[in-house]
Amino acid sequence: MPPGPFPIPILGNIHQLGRMPHKSLKAFSEKYGGLTTFFLGSVPSVLVSDPTLLKELIIYKSEQIIDRYNTDSAQIIGREKNLLFAKGPFWKKYRKLFTNAMTKARTHNIASRIEQQAIALNNFFGTYAASGQPLNPHNYIRRYSLNGVIDYSFSDFVEYESESDHIVIKAAEIMEEILATGNPHDYIPFLKPFYSAKRKALGDAVGQVWTYCDDAIKLHRQTLNPEKPRDLLDCILMEWDKSDEKEFYEDESLAKCLTDLIVAGHETVAITLGWLIIFMANNQDMQEKVYEELINVVGKGNLPTLIHRNSTTYLNAVLKETMRIRTAAPLALPRCAVEDIQLGGYVIPKGTQVLMAVYGLAMDDKHWESPETFNPDRWSKESSSTDYTYIPFGLGPRMCVGMGVAKDELYYAASQMLMNFKWSSTDGKQLDDEGVARIALEYKQYNIKVENRA
Ligand code: HEM
Repeated sequence: MPPGPFPIPILGNIHQLGRMPHKSLKAFSEKYGGLTTFFLGSVPSVLVSDPTLLKELIIYKSEQIIDRYNTDSAQIIGREKNLLFAKGPFWKKYRKLFTNAMTKARTHNIASRIEQQAIALNNFFGTYAASGQPLNPHNYIRRYSLNGVIDYSFSDFVEYESESDHIVIKAAEIMEEILATGNPHDYIPFLKPFYSAKRKALGDAVGQVWTYCDDAIKLHRQTLNPEKPRDLLDCILMEWDKSDEKEFYEDESLAKCLTDLIVAGHETVAITLGWLIIFMANNQDMQEKVYEELINVVGKGNLPTLIHRNSTTYLNAVLKETMRIRTAAPLALPRCAVEDIQLGGYVIPKGTQVLMAVYGLAMDDKHWESPETFNPDRWSKESSSTDYTYIPFGLGPRMCVGMGVAKDELYYAASQMLMNFKWSSTDGKQLDDEGVARIALEYKQYNIKVENRA
């Protein structure tokens, strides 16, 4: 296997990862090279941080790395009957169903549902700006990202001001809290009995979202009009009906796959928006440049939409730079070696957990000039080659299935937020931009001054 730090019994190398695992793993790569072996408890893991080796793995050995590494928590979330964690032919068939339906959703302009959510979010920010009160945007950008997914997928949403406990919000919050704080029994199996309450809470929360998705499937089937699909679920049911493998699909698994959209699409988009506000508040000159660009391209008083996206090159660069410097998923999602993999003169044995160094690659000074500096201008340089060093959505056939939806959500929200409001810190000081590592790379919650643009 590739070289790496010496593991100790039971913990492996967990004790060396500290509070910022993405940074500790980057330091491992700098010491041991582009392929580093380390142990999470008893689980052998290989981190890939060399773009050439990553390319070889994803292009030429894609089938050897197609499965996920499934922990106990992953089993609870999907029972291997979902998109996130399923394996082999099962995953391939459902992935195809979703990819086809998402393409169909594009032709039916289902993304306009997300646009309505961005308008609602910005109306809410408008009332806040008028009040002059400092705003903690955390809950509202999370509600937007959840609404983005459930409106796009099921034509459902929650009002921004609403205090009511929508079942999916509650369940998503429980799931994220349990997953974010880490589950030691995932890597140290003999601890499992001590975590039975936490495992049950996770199972109960996921079960509630399965039921919500299952109810939505039944209701959509009764009310579907193939001439006028309302949302992604309508498009999925239409793809299912015309599929050659019609008999293969069933409601129970579809509900689990739909649950994944909420699990994977909620925090990631919200975290990216949270980082965007921080970097815009900390870099007022850049924020002004985005504003000027939007005014020029969209026109004062008009609503920015996806048709403007190709022309707002600076805003696009700001979004890309935000996802480079503070990527929501610093290690993507773990893959598993399906068989022994020969790579870079080493062997990655079958069953090994394989991680992509999303953060390490994007912050490596071998590939990026001053990687710690937030610099959207780097994206305008023709020479900038980002192949395999900028991979916030992962790579290959197993890359993020929601990438298009995520980019639409980010563009709708960011363009309106930066055209309508000026964002700055409440005390004139820089906001913390280091963040805190949970399962995702999160920002520390903050208050912000939001002012209406005249
Ligand atoms: C900024 C936002 C997002 C980021 C950074 C992100 C990132 C990722 C990454 C790194 C992966 C693993 C890819 C790989 O293994 O190569 C992934 C998988 C996935 N993402 Fe996203 N994601 C985002 C938003 C979304 C949204 C909005 C949805 C749903 C609408 C979504 C649904 C999924 C699903 C279902 C998978 C599993 C795909 C599979 O295994 O086939 N993601 N995402």
